[in-house]
Amino acid sequence: MSGLKLWGTGSGVPSEILTNEGFAKLVDTSDEWITTRTGISSRRRCAPGETHTGLCLAAARQAMERAGVSPDQIGVCVVATLTPDRLTPATACVLQKELGLEEDTVCFDLNAACSGFVYALHTAQCLLAAATRKFGLVIGAEVLSRVTDYTDRGTCVLFGDGAGAAVLEWREDYPSIHAVLGCRGNTENLLIPGVAVGVPSYIHMDGQPVFRFAVETVPQCITQVLERAGLGVEDVDRFVFHQANQRIIDMAVKKLNLPPEKCTGNIDHTGNTSAASVPLLLDELVRDGAVRRGQRVLCVGFGGGLTWAGALLELA
Ligand code: ACO
Repeated sequence: MSGLKLWGTGSGVPSEILTNEGFAKLVDTSDEWITTRTGISSRRRCAPGETHTGLCLAAARQAMERAGVSPDQIGVCVVATLTPDRLTPATACVLQKELGLEEDTVCFDLNAACSGFVYALHTAQCLLAAATRKFGLVIGAEVLSRVTDYTDRGTCVLFGDGAGAAVLEWREDYPSIHAVLGCRGNTENLLIPGVAVGVPSYIHMDGQPVFRFAVETVPQCITQVLERAGLGVEDVDRFVFHQANQRIIDMAVKKLNLPPEKCTGNIDHTGNTSAASVPLLLDELVRDGAVRRGQRVLCVGFGGGLTWAGALLELA
């Protein structure tokens, strides 16, 4: 046995709130359409001057303070994102300086879209096994407003900005997170062309194929994580789903017969924040006391790539 436990979480939340009513003034949509199709009522957006790095710093500082972990105890810092402030240096490198992490801390960004935070948890578990300092800082952060076309009603109502952070410790006597990661190379249904076509470059998403992919993959991923861990649904205290669409979550809950009260989310006030979605929800659940010390949560992400990722996390 060897693995991770979660010691602390934190959030970086932008100041602007965009409501469905606000979108109805921008594009041909309505609060009724958005809430019934997605479960989203509002989402956050960075105001001028708010940055990806700023959100990460706020989330990281909170998580480290709550964990009672100082910068010199961190051995690995991974930021999962597809919307960093710069292509290089990585946000994690900027955090090394701003947080005062040691210079031999492994610092890099990782892009696995909405699966990014769970990909980063697995990466941190592997790297911390070999590191001299056994605490890891894992962040999921996005400023999706930078790549959102606010004239496209099919995508603009879905996305929000934010950052969530987690401080984890690796120990030989801690349980593995039993991560299940996957990817089905798909460059058609969900993409941001980026530097290949110059700027501005916006999210292109074919909603229905991505929806079908998620409904197929999410229950499979949860089942595989539980099989790997030798656990049943009843052994998990909370399921933390990527908040992309409430209907996708409801279908997975139904298919696996999960207790709905263990699957509540925050999509109504966050929207889809891609890599930030799972850690933002995790932090909200910890702050609300909905998950507590010694409890076990199963995190699952899915999205661009097309990727998926699931993992179990125990609270220290
Ligand atoms: N308001 C009003 N009407 C709209 C809107 C809107 N905001 N957006 C689309 N419509 C219209 C369409 O134009 C279409 O009209 P038509 O029938 O006249 O052509 C109709 O509504 C139905 O459109 P669909 O795209 O078929 O709607 P659907 O029920 O599939 O919902 C949605 C769209 C919400 C995007 C859904 O497909 C979805 O959630 N897909 C999965 C998204 C996801 O999980 N992404 C995860 C990863 S994201 C990432 O990695 C960054």
